[in-house]
Amino acid sequence: MTFAPILAPSLLAGDHAALGDSAAVVPAHGLEWLHLDIMDGHFVPNLTFGPEIVAALRRRPELSDTFFDTHLMLDEPHRYIEAFAKAGSNLISIHIEPTYDHRATLAEIRNLGCQNGIVLNPGTPVDVVKHLVAEVDLVLVMTVQPGFGGQSFREDMMPKLQRLAAWREAQNLNFRLEVDGGVDLKTGPLCRAAGADTFVAGTAFFKAEDRTAFAAAVSGW
Ligand code: DX5
Ligand code: ZN
Repeated sequence: MTFAPILAPSLLAGDHAALGDSAAVVPAHGLEWLHLDIMDGHFVPNLTFGPEIVAALRRRPELSDTFFDTHLMLDEPHRYIEAFAKAGSNLISIHIEPTYDHRATLAEIRNLGCQNGIVLNPGTPVDVVKHLVAEVDLVLVMTVQPGFGGQSFREDMMPKLQRLAAWREAQNLNFRLEVDGGVDLKTGPLCRAAGADTFVAGTAFFKAEDRTAFAAAVSGW
C-alpha cells in the first residue's frame, strides 16, 4: 500500500501569539492536515498548548475542514484522550514509551470517533510496536528527540521506516507512516524512499521563503 504524500505543517513553528492566523495559513495553501504538538513538561522538557486551544482552533471557520493531527507528548496520554477528541482532533497519536495500557488507549481513541496513531522516539526500537501495527491508522517515527522544533534530522531512523513499510506490506495493513522532526526538501525524500507517506514539517514550512513551493515539492515526493 503506497499512499500519496501528505504534508502536515506543525503549528509549533507558527506564531504562538496568533495561533489561529498561523493555522489558517495551512488551508490557505490547499493543505488538509495540521499537526498539533501537545507537550506536558514531563515526557518532554517543554510545554505547548492544551485542548482549549485545539477547540478554539476548530471553531475558526477557515479550519472547519482541516484534519487535526494531534501528537500527544504526554506521560499520561490516556487521561487526555477524551478532551482532545472533544476538542475536534481527527487523529490522536500517543507515544509507546510511557507505561499505560497502549492497546486500550488506542481503542478508546477509535471509540471516540478519531483515527489513532502510535509514536516511537529515536531511541525506541521498532519491534516494541509490532503487536500494535494491526490496530492503528498511523505509525509516527520521530526523526528528532521530541520537545523542540528546528532540530537536526536523524537519518539513522530510515531503517525503522523500511521495517515498518515491510510489515505493512507483508501483513496487508494500511496504516499511514509519518515522520516528524527536521523534515525538509533534502531529508523528506529520504523518508519517502524508506516508505514514509506523511510528512510533518514545522520549520521547513512556516519559515520557508516560499511556502507554496515547499508544499508543491512535497506533493511530488
Ligand atoms: C518535535 C515535534 C515536531 C516539531 C517538528 O517535538 O513533535 O512536530 O514541530 O519541527 P521541525 O519540523 O522544525 O523539526
Ligand atoms: Zn509532532
